[in-house]
Amino acid sequence: WAIHAPYVAAINALKRDRNATILAHNYMTPEIYHGIGDVVGDSLQLAIAATQTDADVIVQCGVHFMAETSKILNPAKTVLMPDMDAGCSLAESITPAGIAEMRARYPGAPVVTYVNTTADVKAASDICCTSANAVQIIRALDADTIIMTPDQYLAQNVAAQVPEKRIVWWEGSCIVHEQYTAQDIREFRDWNPGTRIIAHPECPPDVVAESDFSGSTKGILDYVSAERPERAMLVTECSMASNISDAHPDVEFIGPCNMCPYMKKITLEKVLWSLHSMTTEITVPENVADKARLAVQRMIDLGA
Ligand code: 13P
Ligand code: SF4
Repeated sequence: WAIHAPYVAAINALKRDRNATILAHNYMTPEIYHGIGDVVGDSLQLAIAATQTDADVIVQCGVHFMAETSKILNPAKTVLMPDMDAGCSLAESITPAGIAEMRARYPGAPVVTYVNTTADVKAASDICCTSANAVQIIRALDADTIIMTPDQYLAQNVAAQVPEKRIVWWEGSCIVHEQYTAQDIREFRDWNPGTRIIAHPECPPDVVAESDFSGSTKGILDYVSAERPERAMLVTECSMASNISDAHPDVEFIGPCNMCPYMKKITLEKVLWSLHSMTTEITVPENVADKARLAVQRMIDLGA
């Protein structure tokens, strides 16, 4: 912590000067999460926080699609991204042409798009979802066939919980969560009996099936807080366990984890530079933002 302290102090001072707020995702490193985040949470919590802030500037400590979502919801505010290369394999997997292709293949079916997408893909969709509310959104839609993009595994995990609907999906995946296999989980459980295994729904369905619980990053935190297991394996990005372990000293977090190279592009140094130089500002063309906002707002209005 000592090496981080000067950066944390400088960022927090600059935040006050700029009337800025820092929205930090659960996968940020602990020095960002604990040291400078004003709001920390999953992608749904951060999107909602973006609608509620009275700061003039939002610094997004997360990946690019999260910053775009903040901008879409706050066109008048300055939204800063400390590293524009902080992308996401899911967001890269689909373009508006892909949405059009799915609509042509399944005429009349509504398109539910994961927030892990670019603004123009959201603009081409009917409604957004996150991993926290996907099941609720799918249940709420008055349609028998529903298109889910772009995460094939989230779609399959939702389909398992909503068997009354036909869900069709795009073939995107998260490079962090797709690496886990059911065999890994079985072997881990055999070697570590009694460990609670908690998986993000971006994992393949057979991994989720081998786990004790599956939920968004907030869902994972809520589960650990409620259950207080003696030992837990979080089948997700590495920083998740690091960030919540302070608040749960009685839980031993064990097991392998995978790092998101995009999330890890955000560092204290880059956040400091971003606030100092007021770069790099996120822009979304007004016509795209207006349509994308409808999809995001529909999700928020569903109370999900
Ligand atoms: P959450 O909405 O669960 O925080 O997930 C975002 C994400 O990118 C997970 O890989
Ligand atoms: Fe995208 Fe996966 Fe990284 Fe989340 S963990 S930002 S879904 S690549």
